[in-house]
Amino acid sequence: MSTLRTPASTPRTTDPDWWRNAVVYQVYPRSFADADGDGLGDVAGITSRVPYLASLGVDAIWLSPFFPSPLADGGYDVADYRAVDPRLGTLDDFDALVRAAHEHDVRVIVDVVPNHTSSSHVWFQAALAAAPGSPERARYVFRDGAGPSGEQPPSDWVSNFGGSAWTRVPDGQWYLHLFAPEQPDLDWSNPSVRSDFEDTLRFWSDRGVDGFRVDVAHGLAKDLSTPYRPSNEHALPLDGSDPLYDRDEVHAIFESWRTVLDEYDPPRAAVAEAWAPAPRRVLYARPTELGQAFNFDLLEAPFDASAFRTVIDRNLAASRESGASSTWVLSNHDVVRHATRYGLPDGTDTDAWLMTDGTQPTLDRERGLRRARAATLLVLALPGSSYVYQGEELGLQEAAAIPHDLLQDPKWIRTGHTVKGRDGCRVPIPWTTSGPSFGFGAVAPHLPQPADFGASSVEAESGDESSTLSLYRAALAARRQLQRGELLEWIDAGDGVVAFARHDGWRSVTNFGTEPVALPAGSVVVSSGPLTDGALPGEATVWLA
Ligand code: GLC
Repeated sequence: MSTLRTPASTPRTTDPDWWRNAVVYQVYPRSFADADGDGLGDVAGITSRVPYLASLGVDAIWLSPFFPSPLADGGYDVADYRAVDPRLGTLDDFDALVRAAHEHDVRVIVDVVPNHTSSSHVWFQAALAAAPGSPERARYVFRDGAGPSGEQPPSDWVSNFGGSAWTRVPDGQWYLHLFAPEQPDLDWSNPSVRSDFEDTLRFWSDRGVDGFRVDVAHGLAKDLSTPYRPSNEHALPLDGSDPLYDRDEVHAIFESWRTVLDEYDPPRAAVAEAWAPAPRRVLYARPTELGQAFNFDLLEAPFDASAFRTVIDRNLAASRESGASSTWVLSNHDVVRHATRYGLPDGTDTDAWLMTDGTQPTLDRERGLRRARAATLLVLALPGSSYVYQGEELGLQEAAAIPHDLLQDPKWIRTGHTVKGRDGCRVPIPWTTSGPSFGFGAVAPHLPQPADFGASSVEAESGDESSTLSLYRAALAARRQLQRGELLEWIDAGDGVVAFARHDGWRSVTNFGTEPVALPAGSVVVSSGPLTDGALPGEATVWLA
């Protein structure tokens, strides 16, 4: 044990299993709080809001990328993995943030983006300057093209943001990018890539970071043998045979990461972003690997009792098998906010809806918010850990009408302006009821906020017992008292109702229907909607003790 590394700043409580039941709040740094008044959120802004986050009752914050980046993909194009974007602050600012968080017993998770670098990363610049076949190019995936003079891409693989996944460089070779051309994919079979990322994990762990969120974890191992085989990321096979995603070889990478994470006391936590079917997703979460993997099933499920029950059963079973804890996600920086999703008619294609600037089909905001509150209270009662995306505690809706010339998401350009992308959930959050950016900063923010945002601000909702902010505060405070263990027993409460018992009499009951149902006996701990005459209203959750 004497070789374990303990950094200067550590949270007051040192439970090594803290992540198993944690509520983790995702901060999208450029849109959280702007301390220096340049319209872009920054590290000092986050530090200034640590007391808010602590009083909200979260256990940890996860910071989306704050590293130097040309912002071709919201910071997920990293130019330097061991620095802070100068527009967002300095490493000293980062250390101050970690100290402040730890003093409030809030842990800090940082994003690590290993599938690709930014094209402005020194490695890629060196690769461009070097010759085909050089060690510099071997850190990435450079290949000769197809066709008589190599004028066609090596394969028909497509980028997640639209268009070919290959881009040609002036000497005629092509490089692979599963995302934007400004995000060249690394070749993880190259030992220098592996050892450099392990040093990056140590760099942040030495600074006191408590865990990592691993971007596109399922993409690192690729079968690049020829002839190239077709890939289908939307229907991945269960045997790991896709050439690009969720291959078995990827697990050796995360086993060696676990060795690095275990050099620390307490061991560093990690969560995989792995868009793989549930039985394979949990492999990333094995104790010998990252510990957790995001469960995105509820991002794709309708607000429906049997859909929720199926997702819950499937994921609890899968986590039990892998020895991990479950994770629950209703919103993040890549999807339409859940208060909006639930207010659209079932089955609405959200990409198509966004293209109408949110005007068609009709969005029922009140219903969306009512259902979002019910769904949130349900997932907060589940065993495992919950990931909360900034602004959902305010019940924020998607900003669907951002003027087209201000959109930043690479999807907008790469799809020839047919998919608007993810900016609508990334607009800066409102802190005050008025002001140039509703308290985000002193000037207009980098993405425009809807005019009615002030009504959903922290200031407006703080004093209001019926607000979504008050609901989150009450639920998180109660959860701290109640949440432990993995036990969940289903209670049969009729069609359209999802009810379960946890332990010590703690029960959660959700009415997915629109008509009130009788409220079971017990004292009410918290409810997502008003309870009248011993009834649980439609589209509401209650916790009973
Ligand atoms: C992940 C991120 C997303 C990003 C992509 C490429 O899916 O969540 O925001 O665009 O990876 O890094």
